[in-house]
Amino acid sequence: MQHGIVSGAENSSAYEAHVIISHIVKTGEYLAGLADKTPQEILNRLLSSLVQMVSPAYGENFSRQVIDHPHIAEKLSCLPAYLGECEYALEKFWACKIARDESDYTCFPYLGNYVALVRAELAVLEKHIDLQQDRMCFIGSGPMPISAFEIKRQYPALTISCIDRENEALDLAHKVGELSGAKLQYIHAPAQQLDYADQAVIFIASMTTGKKELLRHIARTGQNGTLIGIRSTEGLRKILYKALDERDVPKEFKFLGKTEYKPEHVNTTLFYRLEKES
Ligand SMILES: C[S@@+](CC[C@H](N)C(=O)[O-])C[C@H]1O[C@@H](n2cnc3c(N)ncnc32)[C@H](O)[C@@H]1O
Repeated sequence: MQHGIVSGAENSSAYEAHVIISHIVKTGEYLAGLADKTPQEILNRLLSSLVQMVSPAYGENFSRQVIDHPHIAEKLSCLPAYLGECEYALEKFWACKIARDESDYTCFPYLGNYVALVRAELAVLEKHIDLQQDRMCFIGSGPMPISAFEIKRQYPALTISCIDRENEALDLAHKVGELSGAKLQYIHAPAQQLDYADQAVIFIASMTTGKKELLRHIARTGQNGTLIGIRSTEGLRKILYKALDERDVPKEFKFLGKTEYKPEHVNTTLFYRLEKES
């Protein structure tokens, strides 16, 4: 390319990056000033555009162009936390509605996204374990533990525990579970304080905080052979959820594989097996 002449493709990708950056900045500013993040019209519109914009499988160069932009670097320090508040508020809103209407979890508007993610996760997990009659837990399960409900529906003999440090989240999850006929266990505790010796599979939700300490704690208290699924993000979807810092993964975790990219779910789940030296 001659100096000063920009090809059509570069031009359109620079324009696309500009549109995405402007939207991220606008959304970040709006969220910073919004104390109550319960679903509401402007918020819903901004968030669904944001998810649509960052969901395609962009290449690493384009993703870096956006993520490393100085306006974005500054927003990224608080955006995932704001989005976590929005996700919690959304789940709470729907869990309360389900409890009031005595309906079940299948009316949750993002059910399809969770079903797609669980399908992708089970496709990896089933290569490594027979899930018929084991114990599994979901850390950071929140007020609408759809993933746990869906896995229980497919594997009724599996014992599944939802772990959350918020009483409110667990109470709502329990109510929705009962109305949906999903018999799960509910454990109220910060995940870093539990013992994982009897768990065959441990899922860690992307919004779980204190992951570095938690992963070390699992390596200490878990049994050899335990499978760990950590929800993370790749590409431009890192804007929505903080990606797992792989330096935080203990050496006792042996990488098994990850879910494949699908536009229906923003997470990539990384799977490990706990292999401690004897
Ligand atoms: C946004 S919500 C639900 C997440 C969502 N269902 C998902 O699939 O990612 C995140 C939940 O994680 C819980 N949480 C975060 N860190 C935790 C920790 N270290 N121990 C226990 N619960 C945690 C919060 O209390 C909150 O209810």
